[in-house]
Amino acid sequence: MVEIDHISRLLNDHLKVGENQLILDGTPSTELAERYSTPVYVYCPAIFRERLKLLRQALPDFEVYFSFKANPTPAVIRVFLEEGCGLEIGSGGELIAALRCGCPASKIVFSGPAKSDMDLEAAVKCGVKEIHVESINEIYRLGEVAAKNKSKANVAIRVNPSGVVSGGRVILEGKPTPFGVDEEVLEETARKIEKIESLNLNGLHVYVAAQFLDHSILLSLYEHILEIAANLALIIGRDLDTVNFGSGLGIPYNSTQNALDIKEFGRLMSSKVQEARKSAGLGATQLLIEPGRILAGEGGIYLTRVVDCKVSRGERFVVLDGGLNHHLAATGNLGQVIKRNYPIAVANRMDCEEAVPVNLVGPLCTPLDTFGRNVMLPPVEVGDLIAVFQSGAYGRSTSPLGFLSNPTPPEVFAEGGKTWIIRERLGSESFLWGTDLEPTGLRGAAKG
Ligand SMILES: Cc1ncc(COP(=O)(O)O)c(C=O)c1O
Repeated sequence: MVEIDHISRLLNDHLKVGENQLILDGTPSTELAERYSTPVYVYCPAIFRERLKLLRQALPDFEVYFSFKANPTPAVIRVFLEEGCGLEIGSGGELIAALRCGCPASKIVFSGPAKSDMDLEAAVKCGVKEIHVESINEIYRLGEVAAKNKSKANVAIRVNPSGVVSGGRVILEGKPTPFGVDEEVLEETARKIEKIESLNLNGLHVYVAAQFLDHSILLSLYEHILEIAANLALIIGRDLDTVNFGSGLGIPYNSTQNALDIKEFGRLMSSKVQEARKSAGLGATQLLIEPGRILAGEGGIYLTRVVDCKVSRGERFVVLDGGLNHHLAATGNLGQVIKRNYPIAVANRMDCEEAVPVNLVGPLCTPLDTFGRNVMLPPVEVGDLIAVFQSGAYGRSTSPLGFLSNPTPPEVFAEGGKTWIIRERLGSESFLWGTDLEPTGLRGAAKG
């Protein structure tokens, strides 16, 4: 049987099935594929907005900062900016990109374990809301950079919590990690920051792991963050300006997973926040979250066409024009966080209930380039369209676009029956070789 249950769970007002086809906010997928060719990422901004609305309704005490790395395409970022979100960035490059998208520096928070002096200086000069300091060394470097620029930089200590919270698919908590400073040395770290005149200790930041789907486990993590915040407020003897809870907000990638009960999570969290506000030095503290996938994941579909169908030693292989070069995460090569098969359907055979097991592979010369083994799909023919769901976050941005020199996938918005391109396809000559169309190695070889 086709994975109908999971796919039908993903269908909504904007992702529908009609006349045997997947329809993306009013436009049939075959039309999209013809208009923009394949492979292509199609996003439904209406779904992004809806997810944001649901999140805000569930967690009204929190300011939402969209995690830039989840989908850095400017048009996508602008959707979240227009809705009033801030941005969480993780590099100097993302800082430039965020500013170019029109985000005010006062709505940017900056994390990441390898910020260079140049990154720090850029952040100080433009006056980002907060820099999440990740080590003692970084604290001193930032102190010097801010002093040199005659500034006072707002910092939040990124803390690697002690204790164990399990259930997410990556558990960083309580373990050694390159991210943040250990909770065990929080006091000493805070005191060091307080002695540096060019730094203002603003708050706390914790990002432990991705993909929590069990709200009770996420709740215990967020409660622990409230405890750390209360402790930090006690150490410095004043209320914190901000506490950033990171994310951890997951989405289901296959039929064995249930969606996070965000309403229930929000209900329980809201009473924890009210308690904390009364007792713990968090009276007027601004609470932030910086999610990516829960906002952008479900609004994106990757469409790729079947180039070949073959049988090898009894197994069926369906070969596609796109693969891990465009969508690393969907091939399970982005680490344990998202290893299982993504939800996949044949976009032009949505009504077909017959299904056969196939290995769905991309165009690259490696067995890693596999979207799934024994995926149950309707009998597929050359020219059919494959839709990979949940592709709006960590799709194109995490992929090795240069591997095998295929053109990049364009990105398109689909809304209310209209579609428009938001990023062009780049041919290999422009994005790999820049202006040097005749690679020097070949020139040398020809001469030799
Ligand atoms: C520091 C930080 N914040 C936020 C996020 C967003 O996480 P998610 O997309 O799972 O919500 C990430 C993702 O890696 C991160 O590293």
